[in-house]
Order: sequence, then structure tokens, then C-alpha cells
Amino acid sequence: MLYLSTKYLLIMSDSPIRVHFVSMECYPCAKVGGLADVVGSLPKYLNDQGAEVTVFMPKYRMKWFEGKSFDYRHVSHFYLHHERIDYGIAEVTDANLGFRLMVIDIPGKMDRNGVYAGADGHFFGDEIQRHLCFQRAYLNFIVLSEHTPDVVHCHDHHSGLIPFIMQNCDGYRNLASLPVVFTIHNERYQGVFPWTMHYLLPQFDSWKAGMLDWGNLINPLASAVKCAWKVTTVSPSYMEELKYNSMGLEALFHQENHKCVGILNGIDNEVWDPATDPFLTSLYEGDVDDFKLKNKLALLEGTQLDPELPLVAFIGRFAGEKGADLLPGIIEESLRRELPLNFVVLGTGDKWVEHQMGILAYHRPDKVAAMITYNEAVSHKIYAGTDFLLMPSRVEPCGLNQMYAMRYGTVPIVHNIGGLKDSVTYFDGDNGTGLKFNSLDFYHVFEEFQRAIYLHGAKKLLTTARTNGMDADFSWVKSAGQYMDIYRSVTGR
Ligand code: GLC
Repeated sequence: MLYLSTKYLLIMSDSPIRVHFVSMECYPCAKVGGLADVVGSLPKYLNDQGAEVTVFMPKYRMKWFEGKSFDYRHVSHFYLHHERIDYGIAEVTDANLGFRLMVIDIPGKMDRNGVYAGADGHFFGDEIQRHLCFQRAYLNFIVLSEHTPDVVHCHDHHSGLIPFIMQNCDGYRNLASLPVVFTIHNERYQGVFPWTMHYLLPQFDSWKAGMLDWGNLINPLASAVKCAWKVTTVSPSYMEELKYNSMGLEALFHQENHKCVGILNGIDNEVWDPATDPFLTSLYEGDVDDFKLKNKLALLEGTQLDPELPLVAFIGRFAGEKGADLLPGIIEESLRRELPLNFVVLGTGDKWVEHQMGILAYHRPDKVAAMITYNEAVSHKIYAGTDFLLMPSRVEPCGLNQMYAMRYGTVPIVHNIGGLKDSVTYFDGDNGTGLKFNSLDFYHVFEEFQRAIYLHGAKKLLTTARTNGMDADFSWVKSAGQYMDIYRSVTGR
């Protein structure tokens, strides 16, 4: 008997840890930002290390979903207060992503051409209801079907009420002892709503209200930090910064410090491979300078930008946290100082920034190229073709662009905070991968621009900096191991 149970235990410890990722985004199905990149790549690496990850995301009415095969596993309904919500959970059988993908189909709520906003850029007005429906449908599936995982892993505030509901709400308490891990990709978005809307939640004991509350509001992000078994964020430095700068949650992060850990994101080295990238004109064949030059010439073809000059790029959302509003000023000042630098900008977002960038590109087509759109293929071409990548982020939980840049031999010029601090080391002429400024003050930014100009002229140094970046290891392997440690600690396996 004893022999049998020991054997059983051995089998148990060898079997994969079944993890459910719950996320609003997943690359390549639906992407708004880095959340999608992480959710679309980390599971592959976890699966290699003893996990079996299934990603749960909404079924949107978007291109990627067209023509896919959906195998419905569960179809039912629930009530969001008085509104009947019909939903279905389906496996996408021909997704070929390297992990299992399940979509949550909620007609009327999720079948839209956008994750958070429509094609016109306007945010949907019913995000609270949508996120609640998404979370309820997922929880109903695991509580009503036999598909209970070993760990539920929620990502960002959109799935932040899951731990509270599992532990405190009628109909879900069977899940109360199931471990939940919560990852913060961006703390600036907390998903708050007023207590007057509490009726949208399933019934819970009123004396548990404190586990939902922060500052007299229902705060899904804060609730997840309180209720999850482990809380992670996407770089160690950002984890520290949250204790001092987190839009009012500072005390919470101090209080829950014992279960919080920062794990630096990795990148998908298969998608981001300069030797095989199908978006590139010229592939990397061992000579970094040759690779950079050919891609730069291809990138600048059809523009008036002089390829001899150092090229500085910005790629990403035009958002305050990314410091996008500083770009027009930085570029204007660089033009005023007649610095030998050119700029290429790719992104959308804040209308003022879009407008200013358009004006700059219109007036100085010899110095500035601006593409006011988001295009994955063009972003790959820029990483390969630019010399420098500027990231003046005010907040950067991890940042993936600097890693993509380095992998493609581009030297990042970054604000020394959060994940940028943890992933870029200062180039000292021999070691290091990038340039960093310690404040967003123009004085400091332009000091690094001067260094960039010098570096660009000192060809040997430039080759060293480029090579150091390409040689740095940003693969998921190490970080996936850290997540595995967390899964083992919460499951006791
Ligand atoms: C968010 C953060 C970014 C991070 C990404 C993935 O987009 O702003 O810094 O890299 O999530 O975790």
C-alpha cells in the first residue's frame, strides 16, 4: 500500500503542472501591447520546462480568428445582474501556437473588431461589464467542467477579480483552494469602478468587501494583489518602483511585499531572429555591420533621409507613460541644434503627438520620417535598419522593444528605469549594450545623443556595442524557470 502511494506520488510529481493563462491579449491573435507578446510566447517555454499551459482569451471579431476551427467544449449562460449572458468556450484546433488556445465566445460583448477600442480609436464604453463577463465565463467553465487546472495565472486588471471571485463568491467557492498567480504588466491601468456597480459581481459576503476595495472604489488590480497567492511583475526594478510610485497603491505593495516578485520578461527568439525574419529585406549572415547597412538602405529607400547619418527610431504607442509627448520637443531641439541625426517614428495614439509628428515630417522630410500607424512588419524593418532606438519612458514595467532592438544590432538609448534599467547595461566602450539617461531632462537626453553621434562615428566601437547587444541573452528560458519555481511553490510540487 505504502509502495503504491509512493509510486503514485512519483507519478504526480512527474506529471506536468497544468496552468491556465487568462488574458485579454495574445500574439498573434490579438495584440495591443507587450502583454500580447508575453502571453503568446512564455507558454511555449513553460511547456518545455514541465508545465502544460492553456491560454484563455476572448474570441474577437478580428482577422486572425477568421477561418479558424473552433471545437466548442462548453456552452452555457449566466446572469450579469439581470442581463442574460450566453457564452461558449472553444478550443482553436488549428492555432499552431506551441500551446493550447481556448477562446471565450461572448456574443455582444467580445465579438468586436478591437480589444479595448474600436477601429476608430474610441474605447468601448462597457469595459467593466466586458471584463466581468470574460472572467465569469472562464470561471464557470472551470467550476462546471472537469477542466480544473493546477494553477490559474491571471494577467493584468482585466482578469484581476478572478482570485476574489474564486475565494469569496457564491457558486465559485469550490475553487477557493486553487492557487492563483497574478502578473502585473502595467500598473497604470487598474480597472477601477464605483461601489454603486457592485451588483455586477456575483453574490459575496459583504464583510469581504475590503478585499475588493482601494480608496473607496472597487479596484480589480488591488484586489488581485490582495487575493492572489503570488504576485509577479515584469522586472525586478519595476517591482521596487511600485512601492514608491504606483498611483496610490504604494502602501499595498509594501504590505504584500512578501508574495511579490519581479521577473524580467524574455522575448520570443523564434519570432525575433535576424537570421530568419521573413519581414526583413536582408537577413543576418554573421556580419552585423553589413546586416545593419543593407537594412538601413532598404528602410530609407523612398525617403529623403541621408543613410550616412545616425538614425534614431521610436516605435510604440504614443502614450504619456512611454514619454511619446516628449518626442516632438526632442526632435525639434535636435533640429534647432543642427545635430547630425535623423529620426524615424512608428506609432499611433495621442492625437497631439500624431499631429506634431506629421508636421515635423512634412516640414523636414530630409530629417524626419513618421509613420502614424502600427504595423508589425514595418516595426521589424525598423529594428533591423535603425542605428539607435530611443525609449524616453516615464514608466516601463519591462519594455520589450529595447530587447528586440538589441537582438537586431540596434543600440538602445533609454531612460534608466524599470525593465529598461534591468535589461540595458551602459556601454563603456568595451562591455555593455546601450546608452542610458537618468532623468528625462533634455540636458541628460542630449548628452546621450552626443555619445550616440560619437559612437556612430567610431566604427569599431559601434560594432562592439552592436555585437554585445546581439550576444545578450533575452530568451525566455531563465525567466520561465522562475515562473516554474512559483508554480511549484504554490502547488507544493
Ligand atoms: C506592458 C508594459 C511593458 C511590458 C509589457 C509586457 O505593455 O508597459 O513595459 O514589457 O506589458 O509585460
